[in-house]
Amino acid sequence: MDTLREGPLDGRLALVTGAASGIGRSITERFHADGATVIAADIDLAGVELLHRSLGDRVVPMHCDVTSTESLAAVAEEATRRGGLHIAVANAGRGTYSSILDHSLDEWRAILDLCLPGVFLTVQHSARAMVDGGSIITISSLNGTQPAAGMGAYCTAKAGVVMLTQVAAMELGARGIRVNSIAPGLVETSATSAFWVVPGVVDEFVENTTLGRFAQPSDVASMAAFLASDDSAFVSGSMFRVDGGASTKRYPDLPSAFQRLAASAE
Ligand SMILES: NC(=O)c1ccc[n+]([C@@H]2O[C@H](COP(=O)([O-])OP(=O)(O)OC[C@H]3O[C@@H](n4cnc5c(N)ncnc54)[C@H](O)[C@@H]3O)[C@@H](O)[C@H]2O)c1
Repeated sequence: MDTLREGPLDGRLALVTGAASGIGRSITERFHADGATVIAADIDLAGVELLHRSLGDRVVPMHCDVTSTESLAAVAEEATRRGGLHIAVANAGRGTYSSILDHSLDEWRAILDLCLPGVFLTVQHSARAMVDGGSIITISSLNGTQPAAGMGAYCTAKAGVVMLTQVAAMELGARGIRVNSIAPGLVETSATSAFWVVPGVVDEFVENTTLGRFAQPSDVASMAAFLASDDSAFVSGSMFRVDGGASTKRYPDLPSAFQRLAASAE
């Protein structure tokens, strides 16, 4: 529950999209622990209401679909009513597995829509509702710079997020608003649970990660807390990998792993 304590984000208002689960949930918990009030926005309203019940009134649950202009406008209105945003995290996103040859256009568009226009709309509406000197954080991915066979739509969208972050930093710098991106490697969340089902995939991830492990959501939340705080006052337009050094090696061979799984099921 809410407690009286001093934290680096005391008195700040933050928005986190995709706050009901995984990385977004961990960032919400961390910002709350650091003293912020957090608008926890998600299509999963029950999930963010649960967070509100467990953490208290400094978590404000809101239904929000980041692919909808109306939805984000409503979130921005609530933020403005509360005095304006200091921090926004464009976190909601998901991937899919399909080769380019087999990819359905509908699924390609759905991934792109969530991961790229969804981030654009979040940045746009957050910036409109943000006080000067705020901090916007986008969640891209290791796959924004490291290709993965079978993840064409996701990789393409995340590469776009990295560039969008830099352009937003240029455009918003005059208002003292900093815009940065966090690029996680493999993080254990519900979104990646399939990797634990396909034999060998997680081992291959870990072998190709310099620090020899996968991440927990709190690893990403620590970087978000830094980028949200005054400790990063002169940091903007940058992408921060939280990947344990995975970008220095290679991405796992997902098509071979999925082929092995299919063969073992026959
Ligand atoms: N897990 C990883 O290994 C990993 C690695 C790199 C980047 N990322 C990125 O981190 C972000 C969070 O991923 P995660 O692993 O925590 O996933 P997750 O599935 O655990 O959580 C995603 C959350 O987003 C919400 N969401 C989905 N569509 C939405 C929409 N249209 N509007 C609002 N909310 C919506 C879901 O309800 C869910 O609560 C994503 O952008 C993902 O691409 C994850």
